[in-house]
This record gives sequence, C-alpha cells and structure tokens, in this order.
Amino acid sequence: MAKPASNGPELRGTQLRTALFLVGFMGAGKTSVGRVVARKLRWRFVDLDDRVEAREGRTVAEIFREHGEAAFREAESAALEDLLRELSAGDPAVVALGGGAYVQTRNAEAIRTSNSRVVFLDAPVEELRRRCEAKGGVRPLFADERRFRQLYETRREHYRKADLHVGTGGKQVYAVAREIISLLGIEKKR
Ligand code: S3P
Repeated sequence: MAKPASNGPELRGTQLRTALFLVGFMGAGKTSVGRVVARKLRWRFVDLDDRVEAREGRTVAEIFREHGEAAFREAESAALEDLLRELSAGDPAVVALGGGAYVQTRNAEAIRTSNSRVVFLDAPVEELRRRCEAKGGVRPLFADERRFRQLYETRREHYRKADLHVGTGGKQVYAVAREIISLLGIEKKR
C-alpha cells in the first residue's frame, strides 16, 4: 500500500520543476517504473548508472572491479552533480538512482536543494532479492542473503527520508507508475 511520508499530502499540486527521483534498494524497480512514469508524463527518463558509465567510459561493474566502491561513489556523485546542473536549466526528468546513491549525504543534500521530489520504492526484502536473481546481470553489491538483508536494513532509514513511500510488493510496474503519478498529482506535459 502506498504510504505518503509525513509531508506527502502537501506534495499534491506543488510545482515540480526539476525532477522526480526514484530511490530504493536493488530490485525495487526504479528503472522499470521510472521509464513508465516518464512515458506517461512525457518527461525524459535518466538512469544515473547510465550517466556514470557514459562519463567514466566504463561499466559500473568495471569501476567496482578496477577501482573499488569509493571510486564508484565519487563518479556517481559527480554524475549527479552534472545532471542536477543540466536539469536546473532544462525540462524536468524522471531519474532512477542506483541503490546506494541516495544513502550518500552529499547526494541527498544536493537533491534536497534542487526543487525535486523523491519517491522511495520499497518491497519486502525477500521479493527484492528474488527480483535481482530473476533479472540476472552484474550487480557488484549483490551478496549472500545475510549481507543483502543487512545492507537493506542499514539503507532503509536513508530511503525513508524520501517525500513519498510506495510499496511495490506484488504489484505490476504499470500499477506502481500510476500510483506515483496520482499521489504526486503531477500534470502531464502538454
Ligand atoms: C548499487 C546499486 C546499483 C549500482 C551499483 C551500486 C548499490 O544500481 O548503482 O551497482 O549500491 O546498491 P541498482 O540499484 O539499479 O541495482
């Protein structure tokens, strides 16, 4: 069930000039839901991991493997700063962040001051894990069950700072996208 955060209801009707950020753990559906929300709103969609890869000229997995997580976080913050600069001067976008991006205070702070809205997509940790397994691909921080759950628990308090919380457990991508748009009361671009 969708649960507006404490300041959720006031979001309705507020003018959203910069972006809608989707945050949450691996497997939360940030990219798939983000694409649908963007299509429905006729906004552009940006995946921050893609921006990191384009900026660094290597994949996320390569950055982790060759330079470690700290280097990836630096690249991620730099890509976010570039993106926020770009967004402040252009059309709004729906942005999917990688699972660790919003956890970094520096990133959360930059987003907070950017006239954007942040939506936390959540699901039971077992379902997040199942989705990651089903999807395959390389996720450098996908670990055994105990560490996966531990990382989820430590990050959850950060995600909870988002403006809006939406539970995605057992829901279809389209239903979640519709829910976000309706809860935020965002207008389609004409
Ligand atoms: C990460 C999640 C990944 C990617 C990187 C680090 C994390 O994105 O940014 O591997 O720290 O949880 P997804 O959440 O899209 O898998």
